[in-house]
Formats: sequence, C-alpha cells, structure tokens
Amino acid sequence: MAQVGIFVGTVYGNALLIAEEAEILLVEAGHEVKLFDEGSLESWQYYRHHFALIITSTTGQGNLPDSIAPLYQEVKDKVGYQPELHYGLIALGDSSYDHFCGAGHTFDDLLQEQGAVRVGELLEVDALQHPEPELVTGPWVKKWAELIKA
Ligand SMILES: Cc1cc2nc3c(=O)[nH]c(=O)nc-3n(C[C@H](O)[C@H](O)[C@H](O)COP(=O)(O)O)c2cc1C
Repeated sequence: MAQVGIFVGTVYGNALLIAEEAEILLVEAGHEVKLFDEGSLESWQYYRHHFALIITSTTGQGNLPDSIAPLYQEVKDKVGYQPELHYGLIALGDSSYDHFCGAGHTFDDLLQEQGAVRVGELLEVDALQHPEPELVTGPWVKKWAELIKA
C-alpha cells in the first residue's frame, strides 16, 4: 500500500474527471489516495516522500492551467533537487495544437531536472483520438497502481 497525492491541472474539468476515476482505481488497488484540484506546496512536500500522480491538461499555447501553474512555479523555485520523489504523469492535450501535451511535458521536464524518479511512461491523451479518455487512462492507472506496490 502506498500513499498517493493526485495533483490536477484542468480548465474545463476533463483532467479532474480522469483524476477522480484514477482515485477510485488506486483505492481499489489498496492505496491511500488524496486528490488536490489546486495543490499547495505543503501537500507536495508531504507526497514527495510518497508518490505523486500529476494529471494535467494543456491550455493556451502549451501552457499549464491556472489550477496547477502556481504549484509548478513553487516546486520550481522552492523545492530544487528531490530524488526521493516518485511520480507518474498523465498529460491531456489535443494534437491539433502546436504544443501537444505541452503542460504535462513541462512538468515532467522540471521533475526530471530535479532528479525525481518517474514510475511508468508519461501518458499522452489526445482529445482528438480519444473522445472517451478514461478508456486510455483506466488501464494505465491500473498498471501504475501495480508498479507502485513494488
Ligand atoms: C483554448 C485552448 C487551448 C489549448 N491549447 C492546447 C495546447 O497548446 N496543446 C495541447 O496539447 N492541447 C491544447 N488544448 C486542448 C486541451 O488540453 C484538451 O482539450 C484537454 O482535454 C482539456 O482538458 P481540461 O478540461 O482538463 O482542461 C487547448 C484547449 C483549449 C480550449
């Protein structure tokens, strides 16, 4: 059993729906889960010693949604090296835009720079290809739930 903090970045609610479903699947797998739709640095600092699952859409031109941009900035400015952090990342986007899943990749790049360990591959979810994103994210989350048990 692991403790998982889900940190959500959303504009229109798609990423939040995915996160709520992920929460259910992780709990079913035996994990203890908390969902943050506007995560604070305080909650991040707790989960960096456990597991973080970042689920964010992309807005503007490859930008982070306002619900997660302040957390990203604080992690960047105040956390620094964090090799103890294990995390997963689900990036929502639309391949008709130039910076496909840009926000998810921006967050992933930062965490990689900070020495954090990504568990599993970054999952890109293309709204153009997947009108029902949970069909893609559900199996990924179930697999991730097993990976963090190891
Ligand atoms: C104004 C606007 C800008 C967007 N910009 C991007 C972008 O730069 N890159 C991308 O991959 N997707 C982009 N998208 C697509 C969204 O990320 C995608 O529709 C996602 O599923 C929305 O999730 P949300 O409801 O959680 O915000 C944009 C969507 C809108 C409406």
